[in-house]
Amino acid sequence: MAMTRKRALIAGIGIAIFAVFLGWRLVRPMNIFVVSEHFERPIDTSSTSMPTDALRAGTCGACHGEIYAEWKTSIHSQAWTDPYFRVDWKFDESQQVCKNCHIPLDRQQEDRVLGFRDTEKLEPILAGNPDFDPKLQHEGVTCAACHFKDGKILGTHGDLDAPHPVEKLSDPNAICLRCHIVQGARWDTFYRYPPCGTAAEIEADAGRWQGRSGELAVRNVSELGCVQCHMPVVERALVEGGRVRQARRHLWRGGHDPAMVKQGLDIQFAEIVAGADRRAFALTLTNVGAAHYLPTGTPDRHLTVRLRVLDRDGQTLEEENHFLKRTTMWRPFIVDLWDTRLPRGKPRSYRIEFPAAGKPAPAAVEATVRYHLLDEARRARIGYDNTEPIAYEVFRSRIALQRAQ
Ligand code: HEC
Ligand code: HEC
Ligand code: HEC
Ligand code: HEC
Ligand code: HEC
Repeated sequence: MAMTRKRALIAGIGIAIFAVFLGWRLVRPMNIFVVSEHFERPIDTSSTSMPTDALRAGTCGACHGEIYAEWKTSIHSQAWTDPYFRVDWKFDESQQVCKNCHIPLDRQQEDRVLGFRDTEKLEPILAGNPDFDPKLQHEGVTCAACHFKDGKILGTHGDLDAPHPVEKLSDPNAICLRCHIVQGARWDTFYRYPPCGTAAEIEADAGRWQGRSGELAVRNVSELGCVQCHMPVVERALVEGGRVRQARRHLWRGGHDPAMVKQGLDIQFAEIVAGADRRAFALTLTNVGAAHYLPTGTPDRHLTVRLRVLDRDGQTLEEENHFLKRTTMWRPFIVDLWDTRLPRGKPRSYRIEFPAAGKPAPAAVEATVRYHLLDEARRARIGYDNTEPIAYEVFRSRIALQRAQ
C-alpha cells in the first residue's frame, strides 16, 4: 500500500514538472533558427586600409554605374529600411543577430560583438563601435556585404586590371549561402527543411538532401544555380568605357516582383470529365521556373487559390479555397506540420465540381491565384501598417459556360 502511494507521488511530481516545462516552452522567448558560425558575427572589415567611404555603394557606383543602378532597385539595398523588416525586427525585440544578414558589415552596426553570454549565442556581449557608419547601415545588403573578403574584392574574373585588390571566387553561389541558409541542429526542432529552406529544397530536388531539423550540408555549391536564375547574364562593360565582358544583372527578383513569380509558374484552367449531369473544372499549377519550392524563403510566403462558380449576375454559387503554404507548429516544440507549396516540376491540381443544371443556372467558373508576402493575421499581430500591398494576383481566368440543354 505504502509502495503504491509513493509511486503515485513520484509519478505526480514527474507529471507536474513536465507540465511546468511545457508551460514554460509555451511562453518562453524563442528563436526559430539556430545561430550558426557562418553568421554569428558581422563581417570583419578591420583588416582593410580601405576607408569607410570606399566601402559605400555610392563609391563603388561611381565606377560601376549600371550595377549600382540595378542594385538600388533590389530588395537587398532595402534590407535594413524595408518597412516590413523594421516592424518585424522591433516585434522580435530588436535582436542583434538579425543585423548579421540584413546589415552584415561590422561598420554597419552600432556595436561590436565581443562574445556571447549564452551557448545559443542569442545574447551577444556588445561594445560601442567607433567605426560605425550610419550611411553604410542604410545600404542594407550593400556591395561590400557580398564582395568584401579580408581586404579584397571577390569577383569571378579575378585577373582584371582593377584599382582595388581582387580575389577570384571559385563559385559565385557560395556568396548567397551566408545569408540564405540558417543551419544547425537543435534537439527541440523538427523541421523537414530549415526555416528559410531554399538551399535545402534545391538539394532535395537533386536527391542530395538528407537533413532533419536544421542541419544542412550543401554537397555541391556550384549546382545550386542561385546566381544563374537570380542574376541573369548580360554582356556589358563593368566600368564605363571598359571592355565588354560576360557580366550579371544585380536585380535579385523574388517574391516582391509579380513578373518573377509568374515566370516560375505554369497555370492551366480547363474543363475536365465529370460524372453524369455534372461539370468539373481543374486548375493545374506547376513550378516550372524555380529550383526550390514555390514559394520559398521565409515561411510567411504563400499562395492562395480560389475557384468559384458564378451565376449570370456574378454572384458566387460555389467556392473552393486552398492554401499553398508551409505550416509549422512553433510551440511548445517546432514541428513542420504540413507543406503544400509546389516542389519543382510536380503539377498540382485543384478541382471544382457542380450540377450542370443547377438553379440558379451556373454562368461561369473562375480561378484566381494570389501570392502573399505574409498573411493578414501576422500583419495585424506585429502591427505592420503596410503602404505597399502584402499580396497580389498572379493568375485569373473566367470561363463562360454554355447553357445546359
Ligand atoms: C575607381 C573606380 C572603381 C571603384 C571605386 C571600384 N571599382 Fe571595382 N573595378 C574597377 C575596374 C576598372 C575593374 C576592372 C574592370 C574590367 O577590367 O573590366 C573593377 C572590377 C571589379 C570587380 C570584378 C572583379 C572580378 O575579378 O570579377 C568587382 C566584383 C568589383 N570591381 C567590385 C567593386 C566594389 C564592390 C567596389 C566598392 C567597394 C568597387 N568595385 C569599386 C573600378 C572600380
Ligand atoms: C549579406 C546577406 C545576403 C547575401 C550574401 C545574399 N542575400 Fe539575398 N537577401 C538578403 C536579405 C536580408 C533579403 C531580404 C531583404 C528584405 O526583404 O528585407 C534578401 C532577399 C533576396 C531575394 C528576395 C527578393 C524578394 O523579392 O523578396 C532574393 C531572390 C535573393 N535575396 C537572392 C540572393 C542571391 C541569388 C544571392 C547570392 C548572389 C544573395 N541573395 C545573397 C540577404 C542576403
Ligand atoms: C547579394 C550579393 C551581391 C551584391 C549586394 C552585389 N553583388 Fe556584385 N556580384 C555578385 C556576384 C555573385 C557576382 C558574380 C557573378 C558571376 O559572374 O557569376 C557579382 C559580380 C560583380 C561584378 C563583376 C561583373 C559581373 O557582373 O559579373 C562587379 C563589377 C560587381 N559585382 C559590382 C557590384 C557593385 C558595384 C555592387 C553594389 C552596387 C554589387 N556588386 C553588389 C554579388 C553581389
Ligand atoms: C531555376 C531557377 C532558380 C534557381 C536555381 C533558384 N531560384 Fe530562387 N527563385 C526563382 C523563381 C522563379 C522565384 C520566384 C518564385 C518563388 O518565389 O519561388 C524565386 C524566388 C526566390 C526567393 C524569393 C523568396 C521571397 O522570400 O520572396 C529567394 C529568396 C530565392 N529565390 C533565393 C534563391 C537562392 C538562395 C537560390 C540558390 C540556393 C535560388 N533562389 C535558386 C528561381 C530560381
Ligand atoms: C542568416 C541570415 C538572416 C538572419 C540571421 C535574419 N534574416 Fe531576415 N531575411 C534573410 C533573408 C535571406 C531574407 C529574404 C529571403 C527569404 O525570404 O528567405 C530575409 C527576409 C526577412 C523578412 C521579410 C522581408 C520582406 O520584405 O518580406 C523579414 C521580416 C525578416 N527577414 C526579419 C528578420 C528578423 C526579425 C531577424 C532576426 C530575428 C532576421 N530576419 C534574421 C536573412 C536573415
